[in-house]
Amino acid sequence: MKPNKHITLYVSGSIAAYKSATLARLLVKSGAEVHVVLTQAAQEFITAATFEVLTKHEVLIDAFHANTDYVPHIELADWTDLAIVAPASANLIGKLANGIADDMASLTLMATTAPKIIAPAMNENMLNNAAVARNMTQLKADGYAFLDSGYGFLAEGYAGQGRMAEPEQIFAAIDSGFGETKSVLAGKRVVVTAGGTREPLDPVRYIGNNSSGKMGYAVAQAAINAGAKVTLISGRSLLTAPLGSKKIDVLTTEEMGKAVQAEFAEADILIMAAAVADFKPAEYADQKIKKDPEKAGMTLDLNKTMDIVKTAGEQKKPGQFIVGFAAETQNLLANATKKLISKHMDMMVANDVSDKSIGFNSENNQVTFMLANQEPEKSGVQTKQEIAQLLINRVAQQL
Ligand code: PMT
Repeated sequence: MKPNKHITLYVSGSIAAYKSATLARLLVKSGAEVHVVLTQAAQEFITAATFEVLTKHEVLIDAFHANTDYVPHIELADWTDLAIVAPASANLIGKLANGIADDMASLTLMATTAPKIIAPAMNENMLNNAAVARNMTQLKADGYAFLDSGYGFLAEGYAGQGRMAEPEQIFAAIDSGFGETKSVLAGKRVVVTAGGTREPLDPVRYIGNNSSGKMGYAVAQAAINAGAKVTLISGRSLLTAPLGSKKIDVLTTEEMGKAVQAEFAEADILIMAAAVADFKPAEYADQKIKKDPEKAGMTLDLNKTMDIVKTAGEQKKPGQFIVGFAAETQNLLANATKKLISKHMDMMVANDVSDKSIGFNSENNQVTFMLANQEPEKSGVQTKQEIAQLLINRVAQQL
């Protein structure tokens, strides 16, 4: 989060209001300056004092707060760089979608020209109610960014859709620029692969690699930020999938290949950031392989795995766009060019992984963007989030 960023957090009437205190704290801790607006109903769940202590600012509730020097809701609307409504109740969503401004929260939100993010929280049946669904569709069309609610244990005592996104997830999405970037991929369906595949040798061993998933998850988040509908196909990774993505967990190259084939058939863009095993054990041992005391070594027979991106390239339909990553330790551009052509890709992200401080399992990366008939374009050493943003912008330019 940029230090001194001006964020206004709107809290409306939902039990999830208690989570907003944590969100306010995370934002303040990151260096943002935070103002909070509570609706009347929000005060039934949480008090202004909580937010005043956390943000060191007076909480605004009353639109007719006596003041002769300035108009509070306009002052706050103009001050705001980013507005977050969390939790967003059905009532506040309804007001915003229909232009009703009758309290401090709805007045200020309507006067705010800054990007606005909505994190709904309500009962599952309310969420699926036709009027609420209509209002949310309207707000999306009006340019509001949505951090959709998740499935989980609801306050009503049963599991369902409607749980507000966790404060940490909301914070991570905001920190990555969610809701602020231009929707350059609006309406596009993007499939992203991430992490490394594993090829089991026996019940306890496998052939794998050091991919953490950071690059692919950052690409998925950047695509979501750009308005795309994202499917993230992930090998083993400790990371949390970006909010709003459809995540498919896979283990082996074959599983990843099947998932890519099924998902890419309906998608516009495939971005293969995963580190995929090129070989797998020719035979899987049902029991743990024992050391042979008579032998000094052991030979493994390996078979080639399917080349996922090459298969996708061969089956590509007009209008579909494929991006691959080439992880190389030598002859970066020559090897990446060969892969770009032989695997029928539209763009290659050449990734020099000879330097251990970038590439696999690190926070940063340095890549060269390669397109057929264009000069390669080398990035600086940047965070994976920044590289992902550069990549998404370049993909959008090509479409
Ligand atoms: O996950 P991180 O820790 O953040 O690390 C990121 C990364 C280094 C893994 C990533 O930036 C990267 O370079 N990914 C590609 C790694 C790789 O497998 O490169 P490759 O040159 O072996 O393969 C070229 C392309 O073919 C890749 O898009 C790969 O996904 C794809 N491939 C490879 C083999 C195979 N059997 N099927 C494939 O589709």
